Amino acid sequence: MRRGGRASGVGSLVGGSLAGGSLGRGSLVAGVAALVVALAGCGAIPGSVTPVDEAEFTNELAIPPLAPSRVVDGTRVFSLTAQEGVTEFRPGVETRTWGYDGSYLGPTLRAERGERVAVEVTNDLGEPTSVHWHGMHLPAAMDGGPHQEVAPGATWRPTWEIDQPAATLWYHPHPHGKTEQHVYRGLAGMFLLDDDASRTAALPHTYGVDDVPVIVQDKILDSDGQLELKDDGSEPGTLGDVVMTNGTVGAYQEVTTERVRLRLLNGSTARTFQLGFEDRDMDLVATDGGLLDAPVRLDEVRLAPGERAEVVVKMKPGETTRLHSAEADLGNLVVPFAMGANDAFDVLELRAADELAPSPEPAWAASEHAAADELHEADVSMTRTFELDDSRINRRRMDMGRIDEVATVGSTEVWEVHSTVPMPHSFHVHDVQFRVLSIDGEAPPPELAGRKDTIYLEPGREYRLLMRFDDYADPDMPYMYHCHMLMHEDAGMMGQFVVVEPGQEAGTVPEHGAGTGTDGGAGTDGHEGHH
Ligand code: C2O
Ligand code: CU
Ligand code: CU
Repeated sequence: MRRGGRASGVGSLVGGSLAGGSLGRGSLVAGVAALVVALAGCGAIPGSVTPVDEAEFTNELAIPPLAPSRVVDGTRVFSLTAQEGVTEFRPGVETRTWGYDGSYLGPTLRAERGERVAVEVTNDLGEPTSVHWHGMHLPAAMDGGPHQEVAPGATWRPTWEIDQPAATLWYHPHPHGKTEQHVYRGLAGMFLLDDDASRTAALPHTYGVDDVPVIVQDKILDSDGQLELKDDGSEPGTLGDVVMTNGTVGAYQEVTTERVRLRLLNGSTARTFQLGFEDRDMDLVATDGGLLDAPVRLDEVRLAPGERAEVVVKMKPGETTRLHSAEADLGNLVVPFAMGANDAFDVLELRAADELAPSPEPAWAASEHAAADELHEADVSMTRTFELDDSRINRRRMDMGRIDEVATVGSTEVWEVHSTVPMPHSFHVHDVQFRVLSIDGEAPPPELAGRKDTIYLEPGREYRLLMRFDDYADPDMPYMYHCHMLMHEDAGMMGQFVVVEPGQEAGTVPEHGAGTGTDGGAGTDGHEGHH
């Protein structure tokens, strides 16, 4: 869809965004100034392209194992332990990493709509962390944000009922001010949800065979082979020159069926990918919050940090192709090349066997819950505006003790979000899946028309997001909304909202120092008994 339509002339983009007039908000100048300082800091020179590793694709793609679980009194119980380890991204080079139940990334959790789940989260790291269930509709006290940090040695046991459509969600740490570091070191995993629609869909569904999780990340490995996170203010954070999928550098996946479904997750801290195949289109079947109404044929899909897309790719017997990331269209940026926009590289090789088992044309019926899940613009009772500049939302930085917004349980709202500075941001809201009503007053493109929880904000454009705050009123415990470029999040581009009963006032956020509040005993029980 975007083939051939990408702007690639750096000069014209610079001219366009400075002179175009669409970014005429107060902090544009400050934003550009900050950007220029940041660029000076990282030594980027106009026209330079971040070198991205040209790997040989000779390593079998690691497939995160499905997490074991047991059912206790009707609750499906998982456990996850955050731990230190060593990973060989390159043969013979030992890189110190973090992972869940292993040295890097974590197992894939999987549950069905209607099930009650619990996760025993143990922190074996030397510092507090947390585990946030990104994209999940659940009580704020179970959300795993900065108010649910788990102290070293402690176990936290959130529990909730899965009550949302089948989707590819994920989990990752969310400790106050340290999310970028924790995710970068390797803490992340997928959380797949199933329902009646996904169970009966004509879609590849054998995990790790024709239904493949693909967590795409970029890293810098320093001369000692250790993960390097830049702290020089480079925008929008660290852009790596080593690309990995599920922690495998130069990965290939054997394909044994005519179609393969890739569950793409941008698990990077800063880089936006533009994923597709040079030699074929693909069918986009799902975005962050679940299946689209119908498959959408496209050649590329842009994924900012935190976003997911499920695509189905068709293969011929014996052929090989590569998922790649093309030059990204990041919108109206002053220096897009410095943001990784010019980088193009291969991500994952698919190798088809000489004989392929048949797979059906992608198709599915609506879920029995579809009508109840549907969001209606006619129900909107509140419109809020969110302006993102270089490091703030509505000119404020995150304050753990301040509740920024109060929503009423069951109500439908429009959040009008826009970035006033020419730098990349991706906006994420906890607890809900939203629908994009419009972008600059126009209907969203088909790839942004489904359920979403994270969206890349092209600078200067206005995104109107429709969402409903079902269930779980709690006046004291906030959910987060923030930029998912994790350096920005840590710098304070985050706010807090509570969901209250009709007529109820916001309460007081519980006070706690980092890493306290969960000692594995009282904290655990306290959380579980909250709802
Ligand atoms: Cu994926 Cu608040 O984060
Ligand atoms: Cu989230
Ligand atoms: Cu941002």
